[in-house]
Amino acid sequence: MALNLVLFVSVMVAALALPIAKATLPIGADVVFQVQPSFVPCSINGSLGANVTIRAFPNAQVQLQCGAGNVVATTTTNAAGVFSFSLDAIRLSLSATLGLSACDLVVITPLSTCNSTLPAVGVLESDIQFVATNVVGARIIFNFRPVGFRYSSST
Ligand SMILES: *[C@@H]1O[C@H](CO)[C@@H](O)[C@H](O)[C@H]1NC(C)=O
Ligand SMILES: *[C@@H]1O[C@H](CO)[C@@H](O)[C@H](O)[C@H]1NC(C)=O
Ligand SMILES: *[C@@H]1O[C@H](CO)[C@@H](O)[C@H](O)[C@H]1NC(C)=O
Repeated sequence: MALNLVLFVSVMVAALALPIAKATLPIGADVVFQVQPSFVPCSINGSLGANVTIRAFPNAQVQLQCGAGNVVATTTTNAAGVFSFSLDAIRLSLSATLGLSACDLVVITPLSTCNSTLPAVGVLESDIQFVATNVVGARIIFNFRPVGFRYSSST
């Protein structure tokens, strides 16, 4: 397990070219992967223009998928359409070996659930983007955010 963790951190540091010297990582450190609180729009297109109010997509199931559609984690948006993920290194061993750039956020609840005029098939998808690393005590937190949700008619 300790070896896995070291490998995981090394992969992350190498993959993201982070300004952290491996030597400064505390022994036995917790590595946490977070997708920061993010909004899911009830829309096929989250960027309709500066003055357009986009409604939220509440109670939508959001999956973190890595590689060829492997579901690493699942969560649900709240009443304001907001979700987040916080995962430890053990659950992330799969994505660590694949590289986190191979991960996507996928909203599997159909858009017709929040607006009956929107499609009943297909998903909203977003790539994830690295934001920052925070070291809090013995925890190293890798923060990510969605690039932006877009409708895809394939499932
Ligand atoms: C999404 O929004 C952008 C920016 O307003 C626009 O250029 C694009 O055509 C829209 N796409 C769809 C499918 O509505
Ligand atoms: C948005 O609203 C502001 C203030 O009402 C206005 O100045 C601006 O031109 C609007 N932008 C668009 C793209 O309509
Ligand atoms: C539902 O979606 C349609 C088509 O995008 C849009 O015109 C309408 O404003 C939406 N209604 C609500 C309640 O969001």
